[in-house]
Amino acid sequence: MKATAKAHTNIALIKYWGKRDESIILPTNNSLSLTLDGFYTQTTVEFKAELKEDVFYLDNTIVTDGQYNRVTKFLDLIRGYAQKHTLFAEIHSINKVPTAAGFASSASGFAALAAAATKALDLKLSEHELSRITRQGSGSACRSIYGGFAEWEKGIKEDGSDSYAIPIAPKDHWDIRVAAVVLSSKMKKVSSREGMKRTVDTSPFFKSWVDSIPSDLDAIKQGINDRNFEMVGKIAEANCLKMHATTLGATPPFTYWHDTTVSVMQTVKQLREHGVPAYFTIDAGPNVKVLYLPENEEKIKKALREIPGVTDVILSRAGQGVTYL
Ligand code: DP6
Repeated sequence: MKATAKAHTNIALIKYWGKRDESIILPTNNSLSLTLDGFYTQTTVEFKAELKEDVFYLDNTIVTDGQYNRVTKFLDLIRGYAQKHTLFAEIHSINKVPTAAGFASSASGFAALAAAATKALDLKLSEHELSRITRQGSGSACRSIYGGFAEWEKGIKEDGSDSYAIPIAPKDHWDIRVAAVVLSSKMKKVSSREGMKRTVDTSPFFKSWVDSIPSDLDAIKQGINDRNFEMVGKIAEANCLKMHATTLGATPPFTYWHDTTVSVMQTVKQLREHGVPAYFTIDAGPNVKVLYLPENEEKIKKALREIPGVTDVILSRAGQGVTYL
Protein backbone atom coordinates (compact mmCIF):
# COMPACT_ATOMS: atom_id res chain seq x y z
CA MET A 1 0.00 0.00 0.00
CA LYS A 2 2.90 2.32 -0.80
CA ALA A 3 3.82 4.02 -4.08
CA THR A 4 5.95 6.89 -5.35
CA ALA A 5 5.14 9.00 -8.41
CA LYS A 6 6.70 11.95 -10.14
CA ALA A 7 4.80 14.56 -12.17
CA HIS A 8 5.94 17.68 -13.99
CA THR A 9 4.22 21.01 -14.08
CA ASN A 10 2.74 22.38 -17.29
CA ILE A 11 2.28 25.76 -18.94
CA ALA A 12 -1.04 26.47 -20.65
CA LEU A 13 -0.86 27.83 -24.20
CA ILE A 14 -4.66 27.97 -24.36
CA LYS A 15 -5.69 28.90 -20.83
CA TYR A 16 -8.16 27.29 -18.49
CA TRP A 17 -9.96 30.33 -17.09
CA GLY A 18 -13.40 29.81 -15.59
CA LYS A 19 -15.35 27.01 -13.93
CA ARG A 20 -18.89 25.90 -14.62
CA ASP A 21 -18.86 23.71 -11.51
CA GLU A 22 -16.59 24.65 -8.61
CA SER A 23 -17.12 21.61 -6.43
CA ILE A 24 -15.95 18.96 -8.91
CA ILE A 25 -13.88 21.42 -11.00
CA LEU A 26 -15.52 21.52 -14.41
CA PRO A 27 -14.14 24.20 -16.73
CA THR A 28 -16.04 26.52 -19.05
CA ASN A 29 -13.53 25.90 -21.85
CA ASN A 30 -11.03 23.39 -23.19
CA SER A 31 -7.38 24.24 -22.53
CA LEU A 32 -4.07 23.06 -23.97
CA SER A 33 -0.64 22.91 -22.35
CA LEU A 34 2.98 21.87 -22.65
CA THR A 35 4.42 19.77 -19.82
CA LEU A 36 7.87 21.04 -18.74
CA ASP A 37 10.87 18.98 -17.67
CA GLY A 38 12.44 21.56 -15.37
CA PHE A 39 9.78 21.57 -12.66
CA TYR A 40 8.27 18.59 -10.88
CA THR A 41 6.85 17.12 -7.68
CA GLN A 42 7.78 13.68 -6.36
CA THR A 43 5.32 12.16 -3.91
CA THR A 44 5.25 8.98 -1.84
CA VAL A 45 1.93 7.84 -0.39
CA GLU A 46 1.75 5.03 2.13
CA PHE A 47 -1.63 3.91 3.50
CA LYS A 48 -1.32 2.53 7.03
CA ALA A 49 -4.06 0.77 8.99
CA GLU A 50 -2.86 2.28 12.30
CA LEU A 51 -3.25 5.93 11.21
CA LYS A 52 -6.25 7.88 12.53
CA GLU A 53 -5.80 10.70 9.98
CA ASP A 54 -3.58 11.64 7.05
CA VAL A 55 -0.11 13.04 7.74
CA PHE A 56 1.40 15.30 5.06
CA TYR A 57 5.04 16.38 4.74
CA LEU A 58 6.04 18.91 2.08
CA ASP A 59 9.80 19.24 1.56
CA ASN A 60 10.32 17.35 4.84
CA THR A 61 8.16 19.77 6.85
CA ILE A 62 4.82 18.73 8.31
CA VAL A 63 1.86 20.64 6.85
CA THR A 64 -1.30 21.33 8.88
CA ASP A 65 -2.89 24.39 7.25
CA GLY A 66 -5.16 24.90 4.22
CA GLN A 67 -2.81 22.90 2.00
CA TYR A 68 -3.30 19.91 4.30
CA ASN A 69 -7.08 20.22 4.00
CA ARG A 70 -6.89 20.27 0.21
CA VAL A 71 -4.74 17.13 0.25
CA THR A 72 -6.96 15.14 2.65
CA LYS A 73 -10.13 16.22 0.85
CA PHE A 74 -8.60 14.96 -2.38
CA LEU A 75 -7.52 11.68 -0.75
CA ASP A 76 -11.11 11.25 0.53
CA LEU A 77 -12.17 11.14 -3.10
CA ILE A 78 -9.62 8.43 -3.90
CA ARG A 79 -10.56 6.50 -0.73
CA GLY A 80 -14.15 6.66 -1.98
CA TYR A 81 -13.18 5.08 -5.31
CA ALA A 82 -11.32 2.31 -3.49
CA GLN A 83 -14.15 1.81 -0.96
CA LYS A 84 -11.62 2.34 1.83
CA HIS A 85 -13.14 5.30 3.60
CA THR A 86 -11.20 5.02 6.86
CA LEU A 87 -7.76 4.10 5.56
CA PHE A 88 -5.37 7.02 6.10
CA ALA A 89 -1.97 7.76 4.62
CA GLU A 90 1.42 9.25 5.26
CA ILE A 91 2.33 11.53 2.35
CA HIS A 92 5.82 12.83 1.56
CA SER A 93 6.13 15.39 -1.25
CA ILE A 94 9.24 17.02 -2.61
CA ASN A 95 8.63 20.05 -4.79
CA LYS A 96 11.17 20.91 -7.48
CA VAL A 97 9.05 23.84 -8.59
CA PRO A 98 10.77 27.05 -7.52
CA THR A 99 7.79 29.01 -6.18
CA ALA A 100 9.54 32.18 -7.30
CA ALA A 101 9.25 31.00 -10.91
CA GLY A 102 5.50 31.53 -10.65
CA PHE A 103 4.54 28.07 -11.78
CA ALA A 104 1.57 26.61 -9.99
CA SER A 105 3.05 23.75 -7.97
CA SER A 106 -0.54 22.55 -7.57
CA ALA A 107 -0.40 21.14 -11.12
CA SER A 108 2.57 18.83 -10.53
CA GLY A 109 1.53 18.38 -6.89
CA PHE A 110 -1.96 17.00 -7.49
CA ALA A 111 -0.85 14.93 -10.50
CA ALA A 112 1.89 13.23 -8.42
CA LEU A 113 -0.43 12.79 -5.44
CA ALA A 114 -3.22 11.25 -7.55
CA ALA A 115 -0.80 8.90 -9.29
CA ALA A 116 0.93 7.75 -6.08
CA ALA A 117 -2.28 7.35 -4.05
CA THR A 118 -4.21 5.42 -6.71
CA LYS A 119 -1.18 3.18 -7.31
CA ALA A 120 -0.74 2.58 -3.56
CA LEU A 121 -4.38 1.42 -3.40
CA ASP A 122 -3.84 -0.72 -6.49
CA LEU A 123 -6.63 0.99 -8.44
CA LYS A 124 -6.05 -0.01 -12.03
CA LEU A 125 -6.75 3.23 -13.86
CA SER A 126 -6.31 4.29 -17.46
CA GLU A 127 -4.58 7.64 -18.04
CA HIS A 128 -7.99 9.18 -18.81
CA GLU A 129 -9.35 7.96 -15.49
CA LEU A 130 -6.30 9.20 -13.62
CA SER A 131 -6.60 12.59 -15.33
CA ARG A 132 -10.30 12.79 -14.43
CA ILE A 133 -9.57 12.17 -10.75
CA THR A 134 -6.59 14.56 -10.77
CA ARG A 135 -8.81 17.33 -12.20
CA GLN A 136 -10.73 17.41 -8.92
CA GLY A 137 -7.58 18.32 -6.96
CA SER A 138 -6.64 21.23 -9.23
CA GLY A 139 -7.93 21.74 -12.75
CA SER A 140 -4.63 22.42 -14.52
CA ALA A 141 -3.12 19.31 -12.87
CA CYS A 142 -5.18 16.98 -15.06
CA ARG A 143 -3.00 17.96 -18.04
CA SER A 144 0.22 16.96 -16.23
CA ILE A 145 -0.62 13.25 -16.49
CA TYR A 146 0.79 13.43 -20.02
CA GLY A 147 4.15 14.56 -21.35
CA GLY A 148 4.44 17.00 -24.25
CA PHE A 149 1.24 18.70 -25.38
CA ALA A 150 -2.08 17.81 -23.74
CA GLU A 151 -5.62 19.12 -24.09
CA TRP A 152 -8.13 19.17 -21.25
CA GLU A 153 -11.55 18.42 -22.68
CA LYS A 154 -14.17 20.38 -20.76
CA GLY A 155 -16.75 17.69 -21.44
CA ILE A 156 -20.49 18.25 -21.59
CA LYS A 157 -21.77 15.98 -18.82
CA GLU A 158 -22.54 17.59 -15.50
CA ASP A 159 -21.17 14.63 -13.51
CA GLY A 160 -17.71 15.37 -14.97
CA SER A 161 -17.25 11.87 -16.37
CA ASP A 162 -16.14 13.22 -19.76
CA SER A 163 -13.88 16.01 -18.44
CA TYR A 164 -10.23 14.94 -18.55
CA ALA A 165 -7.04 15.57 -20.51
CA ILE A 166 -5.92 13.71 -23.62
CA PRO A 167 -2.46 13.62 -25.21
CA ILE A 168 -1.99 15.81 -28.30
CA ALA A 169 1.71 15.24 -29.11
CA PRO A 170 4.50 13.56 -27.10
CA LYS A 171 7.48 15.55 -25.86
CA ASP A 172 9.77 14.25 -28.61
CA HIS A 173 7.45 15.59 -31.28
CA TRP A 174 9.06 19.04 -31.07
CA ASP A 175 11.93 20.63 -29.17
CA ILE A 176 10.13 23.83 -28.20
CA ARG A 177 11.43 25.60 -25.07
CA VAL A 178 10.16 27.84 -22.32
CA ALA A 179 12.05 30.47 -20.31
CA ALA A 180 10.46 31.31 -16.96
CA VAL A 181 11.24 34.96 -16.23
CA VAL A 182 11.31 35.61 -12.49
CA LEU A 183 10.56 39.14 -11.29
CA SER A 184 11.78 40.78 -8.10
CA SER A 185 8.47 42.52 -7.43
CA LYS A 186 6.04 41.03 -4.98
CA MET A 187 2.36 41.78 -5.37
CA LYS A 188 -0.68 40.97 -3.28
CA LYS A 189 -1.84 37.79 -4.88
CA VAL A 190 -5.31 36.97 -6.16
CA SER A 191 -5.20 33.17 -6.44
CA SER A 192 -6.16 31.64 -9.78
CA ARG A 193 -9.16 30.05 -8.07
CA GLU A 194 -10.44 33.37 -6.72
CA GLY A 195 -9.47 35.30 -9.88
CA MET A 196 -11.33 33.02 -12.24
CA LYS A 197 -14.41 33.00 -10.01
CA ARG A 198 -14.55 36.78 -9.85
CA THR A 199 -14.16 36.92 -13.63
CA VAL A 200 -16.92 34.38 -14.30
CA ASP A 201 -19.27 36.12 -11.88
CA THR A 202 -18.71 39.73 -12.90
CA SER A 203 -16.70 40.32 -16.10
CA PRO A 204 -18.75 41.29 -19.17
CA PHE A 205 -15.76 40.11 -21.25
CA PHE A 206 -16.04 36.55 -19.99
CA LYS A 207 -18.52 35.35 -22.61
CA SER A 208 -16.33 36.63 -25.47
CA TRP A 209 -13.36 34.83 -23.91
CA VAL A 210 -15.21 31.52 -23.91
CA ASP A 211 -16.53 32.07 -27.45
CA SER A 212 -12.99 32.68 -28.74
CA ILE A 213 -11.59 29.35 -27.55
CA PRO A 214 -12.64 26.82 -30.24
CA SER A 215 -10.93 28.64 -33.12
CA ASP A 216 -7.76 29.22 -31.04
CA LEU A 217 -7.67 25.52 -30.22
CA ASP A 218 -8.12 24.37 -33.82
CA ALA A 219 -5.38 26.70 -35.01
CA ILE A 220 -2.86 25.87 -32.27
CA LYS A 221 -3.31 22.12 -32.78
CA GLN A 222 -2.61 22.62 -36.48
CA GLY A 223 0.48 24.65 -35.56
CA ILE A 224 1.72 21.98 -33.14
CA ASN A 225 1.15 19.28 -35.72
CA ASP A 226 3.11 21.27 -38.34
CA ARG A 227 5.76 22.42 -35.81
CA ASN A 228 4.94 25.95 -36.94
CA PHE A 229 6.53 28.07 -34.19
CA GLU A 230 5.15 31.40 -35.38
CA MET A 231 1.62 30.08 -35.53
CA VAL A 232 1.77 28.41 -32.10
CA GLY A 233 3.46 31.43 -30.51
CA LYS A 234 1.05 33.98 -31.98
CA ILE A 235 -2.02 32.08 -30.84
CA ALA A 236 -0.65 31.35 -27.36
CA GLU A 237 0.31 35.00 -26.83
CA ALA A 238 -3.04 36.33 -28.05
CA ASN A 239 -4.93 33.76 -25.97
CA CYS A 240 -3.03 34.84 -22.86
CA LEU A 241 -3.82 38.51 -23.56
CA LYS A 242 -7.52 37.70 -23.92
CA MET A 243 -7.53 35.83 -20.61
CA HIS A 244 -5.88 38.75 -18.83
CA ALA A 245 -8.27 41.22 -20.49
CA THR A 246 -11.20 39.51 -18.74
CA THR A 247 -9.76 40.44 -15.33
CA LEU A 248 -9.85 44.16 -16.18
CA GLY A 249 -13.58 43.91 -16.75
CA ALA A 250 -14.25 42.20 -13.41
CA THR A 251 -15.78 43.89 -10.33
CA PRO A 252 -13.62 44.86 -8.57
CA PRO A 253 -11.18 44.97 -11.50
CA PHE A 254 -7.76 43.40 -11.07
CA THR A 255 -4.64 42.53 -13.02
CA TYR A 256 -1.81 40.09 -12.43
CA TRP A 257 0.63 42.34 -14.27
CA HIS A 258 3.35 44.43 -12.72
CA ASP A 259 5.42 47.07 -14.48
CA THR A 260 8.24 44.54 -15.06
CA THR A 261 5.68 42.12 -16.54
CA VAL A 262 4.98 44.72 -19.21
CA SER A 263 8.73 45.35 -19.73
CA VAL A 264 9.24 41.63 -20.42
CA MET A 265 6.34 41.63 -22.87
CA GLN A 266 7.89 44.60 -24.69
CA THR A 267 11.32 42.93 -24.81
CA VAL A 268 9.76 39.81 -26.37
CA LYS A 269 8.12 41.99 -29.02
CA GLN A 270 11.46 43.75 -29.68
CA LEU A 271 13.22 40.40 -30.03
CA ARG A 272 10.72 39.52 -32.75
CA GLU A 273 11.30 42.87 -34.48
CA HIS A 274 15.02 42.00 -34.53
CA GLY A 275 14.35 38.66 -36.17
CA VAL A 276 14.42 36.44 -33.05
CA PRO A 277 11.15 34.52 -32.83
CA ALA A 278 9.81 34.55 -29.26
CA TYR A 279 6.32 34.74 -27.72
CA PHE A 280 5.12 35.20 -24.17
CA THR A 281 2.41 33.73 -22.00
CA ILE A 282 1.40 34.64 -18.42
CA ASP A 283 -0.61 32.75 -15.80
CA ALA A 284 -2.30 34.07 -12.67
CA GLY A 285 0.76 35.99 -11.48
CA PRO A 286 3.25 38.66 -12.60
CA ASN A 287 5.93 36.33 -14.00
CA VAL A 288 6.24 35.77 -17.74
CA LYS A 289 7.00 32.53 -19.63
CA VAL A 290 8.71 32.96 -23.00
CA LEU A 291 8.43 30.39 -25.78
CA TYR A 292 11.46 30.03 -28.05
CA LEU A 293 13.37 27.57 -30.23
CA PRO A 294 16.72 25.99 -29.20
CA GLU A 295 18.80 27.92 -31.75
CA ASN A 296 17.83 31.22 -30.09
CA GLU A 297 18.44 30.18 -26.49
CA GLU A 298 21.51 32.36 -25.88
CA LYS A 299 19.96 35.52 -27.35
CA ILE A 300 16.71 34.99 -25.45
CA LYS A 301 18.43 34.36 -22.13
CA LYS A 302 20.68 37.41 -22.50
CA ALA A 303 17.88 39.78 -23.51
CA LEU A 304 15.59 38.66 -20.68
CA ARG A 305 18.31 38.79 -18.00
CA GLU A 306 19.14 42.39 -18.92
CA ILE A 307 15.65 43.68 -18.10
CA PRO A 308 15.68 45.74 -14.85
CA GLY A 309 13.56 43.97 -12.24
CA VAL A 310 14.23 40.48 -13.60
CA THR A 311 16.01 38.36 -10.99
CA ASP A 312 16.28 35.04 -12.78
CA VAL A 313 15.56 33.27 -16.06
CA ILE A 314 14.97 29.52 -15.74
CA LEU A 315 15.10 27.51 -18.96
CA SER A 316 13.03 24.39 -19.56
CA ARG A 317 12.31 21.84 -22.28
CA ALA A 318 9.24 19.73 -22.93
CA GLY A 319 8.80 17.19 -20.15
CA GLN A 320 7.37 13.73 -19.68
CA GLY A 321 4.12 12.62 -18.11
CA VAL A 322 3.61 10.87 -14.79
CA THR A 323 6.18 8.20 -13.92
CA TYR A 324 6.29 5.72 -11.05
CA LEU A 325 9.46 5.06 -9.08
C1 DP6 B 1 -4.12 30.76 -15.21
O1 DP6 B 1 -5.56 24.85 -11.99
O2 DP6 B 1 -4.61 26.55 -10.37
O3 DP6 B 1 -2.80 28.85 -14.72
O4 DP6 B 1 -8.66 24.37 -10.68
O5 DP6 B 1 -8.94 26.22 -9.05
O6 DP6 B 1 -7.02 24.62 -8.79
P1 DP6 B 1 -7.97 25.34 -9.76
O7 DP6 B 1 -7.11 26.33 -10.65
P2 DP6 B 1 -5.67 26.18 -11.33
O8 DP6 B 1 -5.80 27.32 -12.45
C2 DP6 B 1 -4.84 27.53 -13.44
C3 DP6 B 1 -5.15 28.77 -14.21
C4 DP6 B 1 -4.08 29.23 -15.16
C5 DP6 B 1 -4.32 28.73 -16.58
C6 DP6 B 1 -4.02 27.29 -16.85
O9 DP6 B 1 -3.11 26.68 -16.25
O10 DP6 B 1 -4.68 26.74 -17.77
